[in-house]
Amino acid sequence: MSIRFIQVSLVSVATAALLVGCKAGGDNPGREYAPNMYHSVAYEPLTQIKDKEAGMWVSSLDNGRGEYYNSNDYNPYGMNMRLPVPNTVRRNANGWLPYRGVNDTTGLRLANKLVNPYEATPAILAQGKMLYEINCKHCHGAKGAGDGLVADKYPGVANLTGDAIKGVSEGHIFHVITYGKGLMGSHGSQVNDEERWKIAKYVKQLQTN
Ligand code: HEC
Repeated sequence: MSIRFIQVSLVSVATAALLVGCKAGGDNPGREYAPNMYHSVAYEPLTQIKDKEAGMWVSSLDNGRGEYYNSNDYNPYGMNMRLPVPNTVRRNANGWLPYRGVNDTTGLRLANKLVNPYEATPAILAQGKMLYEINCKHCHGAKGAGDGLVADKYPGVANLTGDAIKGVSEGHIFHVITYGKGLMGSHGSQVNDEERWKIAKYVKQLQTN
């Protein structure tokens, strides 16, 4: 046997062993190389390995647990993230509670009492304009005259600058964006509360021009 042959054989055997080690499928995630890079020591919210022995073979900790164990002994079911307390009310990043106006005529009337938390500063109006152009312009038109491209095909889009709508409050606009009205569908899932108020400011500006 030549040296060359032995070399080639050794390389082939090593390569085959590597490839076999990589085989994954079914419940077998395959071998991991450098497992410490996959399994953080910290609690992870999205994985839950309850087997205290898991990863004992690579453990670098001296707490008697495997490297992969990442359940939380103190929480129910070993969960790391906990569910919010029942009846918890979500607040957004600004600390605002969700809009609780009801989607009916009384709710629309009561919306008039709402006060826009934003001032008509150039920055807010610029953001309102951008949001209006993304979400409203195709129906209501660039100047709010109800002449967007969609309105060409589907009549009935309101002219926001017409006498009937010119006088509506910003709260009214906020409510209409949230729930829609008549032919107009809800845009509540497209724009959040902050964005609705910015759009309302911009619509008011369109109406006074
Ligand atoms: C798909 C087309 C469409 C889009 C997009 C749209 N609207 Fe409308 N909007 C309508 C139609 C149609 C009406 C008339 C509804 C009716 O009276 O039946 C209307 C009515 C309104 C009214 C008048 C409500 C009233 O009191 O009569 C306001 C205010 C309004 N829209 C604001 C907006 C704003 C702000 C946006 C963007 C977030 C927007 N709309 C997006 C179609 C649209």
